[in-house]
Amino acid sequence: MTKKRILTGDRPTGSLHLGHYVGSIQNRVKLQNEGNEVFTIISDFQYLTDRLETKDVERNTLELLLDYLACGINPDTSPIFIQSKVPALAELFVYLSMLVPVSRAQQNPTVKEEVRATAKGKMSLGMLSFPVSQAADILAFDTDLVPVGEDQLPHIEQTREVARAFNRVYGETFKEPEALLSKVPRLMGLDANQKMSKSRGNAVFLSDSKDTVVKKIKTAVTDSGKEIMYDKENKPALANLLMMYHLFSGKEIKAVETMYEGKGYAEFKADLAEVVNAFLEPIRRAREEFAKDEAYLSLVLKQGTARASEESEKTMKRVRKAMRYDYPHIFH
Ligand code: TRP
Repeated sequence: MTKKRILTGDRPTGSLHLGHYVGSIQNRVKLQNEGNEVFTIISDFQYLTDRLETKDVERNTLELLLDYLACGINPDTSPIFIQSKVPALAELFVYLSMLVPVSRAQQNPTVKEEVRATAKGKMSLGMLSFPVSQAADILAFDTDLVPVGEDQLPHIEQTREVARAFNRVYGETFKEPEALLSKVPRLMGLDANQKMSKSRGNAVFLSDSKDTVVKKIKTAVTDSGKEIMYDKENKPALANLLMMYHLFSGKEIKAVETMYEGKGYAEFKADLAEVVNAFLEPIRRAREEFAKDEAYLSLVLKQGTARASEESEKTMKRVRKAMRYDYPHIFH
């Protein structure tokens, strides 16, 4: 594979959990280790789409940074940067927003869902337009691939559309990026009826202590019956825990079923907590080490942001030229 430019990121709403790891972070590290250029955006503009309070943003940004580093994102090759600190992203958003009919923006199903879930039908202009801002994030870096979850596919589609619209109006400027979906099935939360999520209190965080992991898994919802068997239809909660066992131990689900023949949920859960803790231990240790080194963390963000500014500025030169917005020439 030739080296690809990859961009993905997260809103700084808290630290990452096991669902993020298997659904996304693992994939990013793999893409990085295969020699691709992986840009990670901490999207603090997008943070504001469903809330206005900002007191936790800085702390959450640091938590994200620690999670990325502890999971193996190497900032020397893979820049990590903060959206609001790269002005080109705001400028490009303004230009792109002119190309998007309001009626089109209103059709984005993820926006509709967000409005229903968090804004109670009251939609801000920022909420309506955030996919266009995300398109600016993606297009500003000449991105080839965007590794995302399924809920993000409408945004990638909108990104491709706005790239085509720009190219039509101002001449060939952007390439159309592609989404890259993770092959790993989505983990459900420990409450077993929804996806693992920061806001639903059903997640195991990468930063959870050993004891917290034991406690959370011990009290995870299970189904009635006592046999340890994978039956997604009738025993969805247990199936999810078996999937977790498989993903974090590397053992096939069939083999795990055999191991626990004649044994009960309690024993299985105690062992699952050990499996998860064994997986998390090196991440936890790396996290603690990085957390002690504030100077390094600051350097990582500074360098990442500088690199992101430089790369996006290259694109913006092209954009402004295409639009004849590289004036006034008497300045040059
Ligand atoms: N919308 C993404 C999320 O909620 C975060 C994000 C912001 C993003 N900008 C991006 C993802 C650009 C991919 C590319 O998880």
